[in-house]
Amino acid sequence: MTRHEPLDLKKAEISGGVATDRRHDSAHKHVTGEAVYIDDMAEPAGTLHAYLGLSAVAHGVIRSMDLDAVAAAPGVVTVLNHQDVPGTNDISPTGLNDEPIFTPDRVQFLGQPVFAVIAETREQARRACTLARIEYEELPALIDIAQAGEDARLVTKPLTLQRGSVGLALRAAPRRVSGRIRVGGQDHFYLEGQIAFAMPGEDQDVTVHSSTQHPSEVQHMVAHALGAPSHAVTVEVRRMGGGFGGKETQANLFAAVAAIAAKKTGRPVKIRPDRDDDMTATGKRHDFLIDYDVGFDEEGRILGVDFTYSARCGFSADLSGPVTDRALFHCDNTYYYPSVRAVSRPLYTNTVSNTAFRGFGGPQGMLGAERIIDEVAFALGRDPLEIRKRNLYGETDRNVTPYHQTVEDSEAAHVIEELEISAGYADRRREIAEFNERSPIVKRGIALTPVKFGISFTATHFNQAGALVHVYTDGSIHLNHGGTEMGQGLYVKVAQIVAEEFQVDIEQVKITATTTGKVPNTSATAASSGSDLNGMAAQNAARQIKDRLIDFATGQYEVPKEQIEFLPGRVRVGNQEIPFAELVRQAYMARVQLSAAGFYKTPKIHWDRDKGKGRPFYYFAYGAACSEVSVDTLTGEYVIERTDILHETGRSLNRAIDIGQIEGGFIQGMGWLTTEELVWDDKGRLRTHAPSTYKIPLASDRPKIFNVELADWGENREKTVHRSKAVGEPPFMLAMSVLHALSDAVASVAGHKICPRLDAPATPERVLMAVERLRAEG
Ligand code: MTE
Ligand code: MOS
Repeated sequence: MTRHEPLDLKKAEISGGVATDRRHDSAHKHVTGEAVYIDDMAEPAGTLHAYLGLSAVAHGVIRSMDLDAVAAAPGVVTVLNHQDVPGTNDISPTGLNDEPIFTPDRVQFLGQPVFAVIAETREQARRACTLARIEYEELPALIDIAQAGEDARLVTKPLTLQRGSVGLALRAAPRRVSGRIRVGGQDHFYLEGQIAFAMPGEDQDVTVHSSTQHPSEVQHMVAHALGAPSHAVTVEVRRMGGGFGGKETQANLFAAVAAIAAKKTGRPVKIRPDRDDDMTATGKRHDFLIDYDVGFDEEGRILGVDFTYSARCGFSADLSGPVTDRALFHCDNTYYYPSVRAVSRPLYTNTVSNTAFRGFGGPQGMLGAERIIDEVAFALGRDPLEIRKRNLYGETDRNVTPYHQTVEDSEAAHVIEELEISAGYADRRREIAEFNERSPIVKRGIALTPVKFGISFTATHFNQAGALVHVYTDGSIHLNHGGTEMGQGLYVKVAQIVAEEFQVDIEQVKITATTTGKVPNTSATAASSGSDLNGMAAQNAARQIKDRLIDFATGQYEVPKEQIEFLPGRVRVGNQEIPFAELVRQAYMARVQLSAAGFYKTPKIHWDRDKGKGRPFYYFAYGAACSEVSVDTLTGEYVIERTDILHETGRSLNRAIDIGQIEGGFIQGMGWLTTEELVWDDKGRLRTHAPSTYKIPLASDRPKIFNVELADWGENREKTVHRSKAVGEPPFMLAMSVLHALSDAVASVAGHKICPRLDAPATPERVLMAVERLRAEG
């Protein structure tokens, strides 16, 4: 555990304060298996198990449903369908009522929950599900967005961002290119799948252990489903085995089913789908078709761009509105467009309802920007990096985004410049050209791509958080806040912040499970804002208690406030030093309240969606990556030879955690853009519903050389907690460097004169086809 840039000596004395490179609080338990996930919790006597019966057609009307054999199967206690929902049969997070728990009559995707079996064992419930006899009248199904016509149905209101007159700019531009990129979706592949465990209580009460990023929403959904007030429902989550956005809304279903079953039977009920059903029945990253039309000059300066982002949303809105909005918010990435129009098309399809996934549409948005950079570069025969640098946001007249927020903090040029040097870009570009001259089959490629990611929920009201801190009379501290832990290290960061406030060792701070009973009305832990929001709320709670201790000491010892200082493990009061626990005990005896609820709301942000104008983001997080690949042009197979990353986290709260987030985010992004391919057949069946057919990156797929550095120059210009920056999602998009390095390698077979127009994921098959096409055309 090393400490970087200690601010001063007194700080260096507590263990685990802010800016300590401290391991994840549960790292050792993750490794040894001692960390308790919901399925590890001891089951109370009488626990029942639920399993979902899923629809077998993509679109249709249920003509008849015979569940007699299901109900008669061994171990079955009861069978639930839409008639067993005591409250509202809906778990849509939008309030649009478009997502039933159990569909009553109409089936809108293959894998939609129709009923649930509750049995003594999970295996019995699972087997009984297969005995259902359901007849459907099939209806035409829209599976693929490429088939959606002009008048296709949308699941939510589209967004338009506009600045300048794009039609004029395009007509006047000396050069113009239009095209389309197809960007695939992604399964979350969290290690711990969806799970919920409901414990019935007295009256209407129920406690639900849910693997959710959004306990408050699960609470509301369960309450609606039961027809009970929110106060009857308590939702608790100690940790998730990964969420990645897949548990922002997708946990609602499982929690609701478990709770309904628990109240109906009066017994605890657990539900855990197997991996295939989890992949089939829960939403994923949206795949997109991005159409672009870009005008530019001979120097490669973009003059105008017109984008249409069509997304496969599935059968309900879920988070598709904000996800497609965020795609548009990132259609610029780090580039200034003098004129721009970007339109979203959130398309209804008869597929599972797509949802949040790390980056929340931002990654798809940025791929549009990076594609047009590639188009411009190949059209002009220039190095794409040169075109990137030429189009960066700059000062005064080149700093306004398509949503009219001024970029006040552009670090992109700085990050690119440093990475270009540290990664040796120019030399390697030359070496690669020489290598490709000599090597007829294996071709190398390199790309350096930047990232600018907007931090804040675009729905302004979500940018609030609460925390609850208790100091006990022995000086130990109980910490609770509204954020959830999914492996990202939020809990340890917030604990560091509290330890720092009180100047106590982090071991003195007890991290406790997130629960709606302690901190209410929370937002999802999402949008990378977990530590920004909850860190501030916890700091606020700690400061309230500190202020009371200071007031107490002022009166008790008759010293002015200014002479009271929290030192490591003790408090200086005038010219004496009192151990922290001792001062706490004295304060208790004097009847000082040693517990506080903290609160925070992000300042400065506002957004008018109808006008497409505002300041939706408090600040931006920047980074850049440089990747080199080698491609076997006879098979399309490739290897990532090296990746260098420079990413900015402001004044890092915990560099060890941040580097973990950057490495993990990059690799997950790499999987999305290279091997993770979702395939639905024309019947709407997901054919890639297990690791046998859905390829997440292996340890052996990571770059052979992998250098990750934090940009150490600075603190956040905005007043975030300890001037840190959010890190959860932005690094995901650093993986664009891999896609563009592949593009560069492919382009080499035709002398870099044709844009390979690689779709994502750039699987070996796609790379091979692109090579063949370029060889034929070049
Ligand atoms: N890291 C791990 N290990 N597991 C996860 O599920 N989720 C990501 C990111 N990093 C995730 C992760 C996503 S989608 C988000 S929005 C952020 O973490 C949420 O946490 P934060 O706001 O505390 O960064
Ligand atoms: Mo992250 S996609 O905002 O949960």
